[in-house]
Amino acid sequence: MKLLLLLFVLLHISYSTASSISELRALITVKSSIADGPQSHLSNWNATTPLCSFTGVTCDYTGRHVTSINLTQFTLSGTLSPSLAHLRHLRNLSVAANQFSGPIPMELATLSSLRYLNLSNNAFNGSLLE
Ligand SMILES: *[C@@H]1O[C@H](CO)[C@@H](O)[C@H](O)[C@H]1NC(C)=O
Ligand SMILES: *[C@@H]1O[C@H](CO)[C@@H](O)[C@H](O)[C@H]1NC(C)=O
Ligand SMILES: *[C@@H]1O[C@H](CO)[C@@H](O)[C@H](O)[C@H]1NC(C)=O
Ligand SMILES: *[C@@H]1O[C@H](CO)[C@@H](O)[C@H](O)[C@H]1NC(C)=O
Ligand SMILES: *[C@@H]1O[C@H](CO)[C@@H](O)[C@H](O)[C@H]1NC(C)=O
Repeated sequence: MKLLLLLFVLLHISYSTASSISELRALITVKSSIADGPQSHLSNWNATTPLCSFTGVTCDYTGRHVTSINLTQFTLSGTLSPSLAHLRHLRNLSVAANQFSGPIPMELATLSSLRYLNLSNNAFNGSLLE
């Protein structure tokens, strides 16, 4: 019984860690297709910063899952990576008032927790179905 409990705890820990590593990796990938603005809002989006301390990022109460990304008016350009769709707990996403171009990733439609999405005031110009 104790062994079973230990196994369960270990599995749980490795599952949680794997999940937060993949959210971190997803955001690092998201950053790689963004050109940061003059104020370098995204300079702490790197592997040495805890995910939930990234500028504009809010996590849930467990501190493991990203629930909100707010990059409103950060003077960002570049494209929005389909990797955003790896943030399975994302509820709010605003990239409003930047200069993003290229397609709006269709993968966003797979985010079943997403409640608020603001893409306004950008230069998106690819097809929605790309
Ligand atoms: C990573 O972010 C930290 C702040 O959390 C910052 O001090 C450091 O300079 C950043 N590293 C790089 C390579 O940008
Ligand atoms: C995003 O941040 C801006 C500036 O801090 C704030 O005015 C706005 O209400 C936020 N939007 C969301 C959806 O959290
Ligand atoms: C998410 O959006 C909702 C509705 O706009 C807002 O009430 C809530 O404060 C936002 N949460 C975060 C963490 O930005
Ligand atoms: C989306 O963001 C823009 C720019 O910040 C803001 O003016 C607008 O009210 C937002 N739309 C919604 C539906 O929240
Ligand atoms: C979208 O705009 C960018 C930047 O202006 C440009 O490089 C790209 O060719 C455009 N793409 C399409 C599909 O029009």
